[in-house]
Amino acid sequence: MFLVANWKMNMTRSLIDGYLDVLAGRPMSGLLERKRLSVALAAPHIYLDYVNREVHRRKLPVQIVAQDVSTRTSGAFTGEVGVPNLLDIGIKGSLIGHSERRRFFRETDEDVVAKTGLCLNGGVVPIICFGESRPDRENGVTLETLRSQLEPVCEEIVRAREEGIYTPFYLAYEPVWAIGSGVNAGLSDIQEVVTFVCEAFPWPDPPNCLYGGSVGLENIRELASSEFLSGFLVGSSWLDPNGLLNSAELLPQTERTAQEGVRFK
Ligand code: 13P
Repeated sequence: MFLVANWKMNMTRSLIDGYLDVLAGRPMSGLLERKRLSVALAAPHIYLDYVNREVHRRKLPVQIVAQDVSTRTSGAFTGEVGVPNLLDIGIKGSLIGHSERRRFFRETDEDVVAKTGLCLNGGVVPIICFGESRPDRENGVTLETLRSQLEPVCEEIVRAREEGIYTPFYLAYEPVWAIGSGVNAGLSDIQEVVTFVCEAFPWPDPPNCLYGGSVGLENIRELASSEFLSGFLVGSSWLDPNGLLNSAELLPQTERTAQEGVRFK
């Protein structure tokens, strides 16, 4: 399974040091190997290089990914960070289309497709977030929303494969109403969505799907019992490194190989 801690707009260098010290203080490699887990930390852009260096220095078995990437490659786009910038500092993965980007920064489905394409072309593993809002769910249009988010993404991945580009990708189902709310989606809802997503589009390779939205110690074990999930994308409860490690401890030992986290470094 693939565990991604999304730090969002949190952390400082001293908090990062403390976080990594906690990870380094526990026998992490054995735990990850035993449970067949890969771990990534999604850090704010400004800390990516720092966290990456510190992780290497401490020989921690974790990967560092970005939380977003630009729809452009380079040029006069003040404040943006492009795929080449990520690659330049050794970052090989990025969240794409997080609902907070869609909601607060008006990111569109077209932007998500453009970012996905640039990541695939550049060899940066996109972790493509999708999910319905509460009104979508209440109005019974969940699957329509997911279709409009993912159909063009799938087309972009097919395009890349046809061009001989085999960068792996992840999908992350994050229902907007479950994020930071303390209420996670139920197993049957997750199963319905993941089954729909896998069957409704002609993915060139079977998608590995993560779940995010109020995952914590109290529910991760049950959620992990779903055969449909390849991992978790977690905000609040993994801002604490012990939350991340204790969650990993709770996960069942698995023989699953096809869906375990792809190492992209
Ligand atoms: P929470 O785990 O805080 O609900 O956040 C989920 C999320 O948005 C991860 O990307």
